[in-house]
Amino acid sequence: METLPTVKATPAQHELTDPKVEIDTLITAPQQETEIDLEFLYTRDIEFRQETIYFVVVDRFYDGDPNNSEGPNPELYDPNAQEWGKYWGGDLQGIIDKLDYLKGMGVTAIWLTPLFEQIEDLFIESAAIHGYWTKDFKRLNPRFIGQDEDPSLNKTQETRNTTFDRLIDELHKRKMKLILDIVCNHSSPDISGVKGELYDDGVKIADFNDDKDHWYHHYGEVSNWEDEWQVQNCELSGLATFNENNNDYRNYIKLAIKQWLDRGVDALRVDTVKHMPIWFWQEFIADIQAHRPDVFVFGEWIFSHPLDDLSVEFANCSGMSMLDFGLCVAIRGALAQGAEGGFQLIQDVFDLDYRYNGATELVTFIDNHDMPRFQSLNADPEMLRVAIALIMTSRGIPCIYYGTEQYLHDDTNGGNDPYNRPMMTSWDNDTEIYRYIRLLSGLRRLNPAVSVGSHQQRYITPDVYCYVRRYGECTCFVAMTRGETVTIDTVMTDLPDGEHTCVLTRRKFTVENGEIRNLELGRRDVIVLSHIGERAKAKTLVRVQLNGVNTQLGERIVVMGDCPELGNWDIGKAYPLEYINANTWFAEIPFEESAGKLITYKYAMLREGRSPLRENIVARRWVVASEGTVKWRDLWASGRES
Ligand code: NOJ
Repeated sequence: METLPTVKATPAQHELTDPKVEIDTLITAPQQETEIDLEFLYTRDIEFRQETIYFVVVDRFYDGDPNNSEGPNPELYDPNAQEWGKYWGGDLQGIIDKLDYLKGMGVTAIWLTPLFEQIEDLFIESAAIHGYWTKDFKRLNPRFIGQDEDPSLNKTQETRNTTFDRLIDELHKRKMKLILDIVCNHSSPDISGVKGELYDDGVKIADFNDDKDHWYHHYGEVSNWEDEWQVQNCELSGLATFNENNNDYRNYIKLAIKQWLDRGVDALRVDTVKHMPIWFWQEFIADIQAHRPDVFVFGEWIFSHPLDDLSVEFANCSGMSMLDFGLCVAIRGALAQGAEGGFQLIQDVFDLDYRYNGATELVTFIDNHDMPRFQSLNADPEMLRVAIALIMTSRGIPCIYYGTEQYLHDDTNGGNDPYNRPMMTSWDNDTEIYRYIRLLSGLRRLNPAVSVGSHQQRYITPDVYCYVRRYGECTCFVAMTRGETVTIDTVMTDLPDGEHTCVLTRRKFTVENGEIRNLELGRRDVIVLSHIGERAKAKTLVRVQLNGVNTQLGERIVVMGDCPELGNWDIGKAYPLEYINANTWFAEIPFEESAGKLITYKYAMLREGRSPLRENIVARRWVVASEGTVKWRDLWASGRES
């Protein structure tokens, strides 16, 4: 073991999960600048699995600054909020004004629709209220910021203390995070012969219709969605599609996004990732994370599914996580649309978790701005409550679409776009869903079984679902029903024996030999029982994830190495990992003595009645940060029988 200069990582997350600490003080701190030797930056990492995300269509949330509403073109603003294609006034001040409301609900991270300057015109009767038709990736939409911050008056990237900066400050003060929605695939569609005009903080740099420098692809609309080349190179709904082979384009977009990260953005949601080749994303992420390693990134691969090889390849190889459309579709089918298979549809998706390297980091949701709201499919608020409880207690990082907690929905035309983007009108902080989200967000931060653990089904019928989340000595048992009252004879909970109180309803349940007998579930009921055992604590906590190892019943994975924490190469003292799914083993390993030192390690499989199978490599080398949390994401290097 070698001693190296001090290396610091992100703040220790285990402090945030001490059951004795009040929920309100537990919201993870945004990443601060730390004294880091550049050489060791790669050891820093962000943990997003304890977060509860809230997704806001900025224009439709709250008008905190009436002075900016008319924007550069007053024709595009409808003060009466009647014309769905026009702006209705929501802005960044509106978000700031409602941060306490969101924090009170347990929201820890907000994802805002793209904030960049947009084309100021109508395209098929719609203005760019959603933010996906960008004109300048270095400027903000003037309708979202103060009038005196109009980007035409000052260079945006040279101006500070703006509404955007205040939003970040106010979020960070509340220990909340900002997720910026970005688009790398395209700029804007054709409006009256103007298409894809692109600016660099006010200076025009490209134009689809006069594309001397080849910033765009010119292959027309996608006609065959099965043809991968077309999907990546042709146009989506007439949007000018960037030519990723152009270095100047790549440098422009990377620099633009890094400038926003430098202003304090904590995470990125990336639009239309299936429309660009994976090499582009790998280069993009490498560049972004070399600049800010502690940034969480997830992409939108529309209708991704664990059986869709390309979307799985993206999730495993792009360097970013992904929105979990597969689970979303299953939940909507089972709970909103009354599909015959019911909960089995959801379990079928979890059964395929082994296809992903990081299933616990997928971003889960039940609706968004591109599909009818859950309640437009099924208005029953009780069913919505079950669906929300499901995503808040299952693997993945839950994302709540704005207004869900207020039962916001407009069912015109089946609730399809644009009717899925109504104006937020009520701010009741005592609705049942608001309270459920608050309680379950607290649970996610307190109980690592929920944020990082395995998901094991314990009882399932189309109408009833019981599962256990498990990590180490921490357990969470969940039971829910989409139907009428039912009694289950016996269900295994994995909880310690004794009395347990439901996190949501305070009802009490007795566990004997790990089981609950005669478990009574009411109509559309949800029960959540949580047990938090000992959890690793140390100066440096390493989150170790091993993928690609195929274990059979009775086989276990350990990590061993040249330091006391990993047993000094004594396999009997190696650190045990936990089974998460058929592709993932995981552990949070405390490092004290070797914090800040260079260590070597490798994995081994322990097998009953047979000698251990060690990885067939020399050993991995790693500098353990001197404090904080870091991640190792390793792929099993096939063992060799000795
Ligand atoms: C996906 C976004 O979610 C959607 O709203 C947008 O229209 C398309 N990408 C194109 O940017």
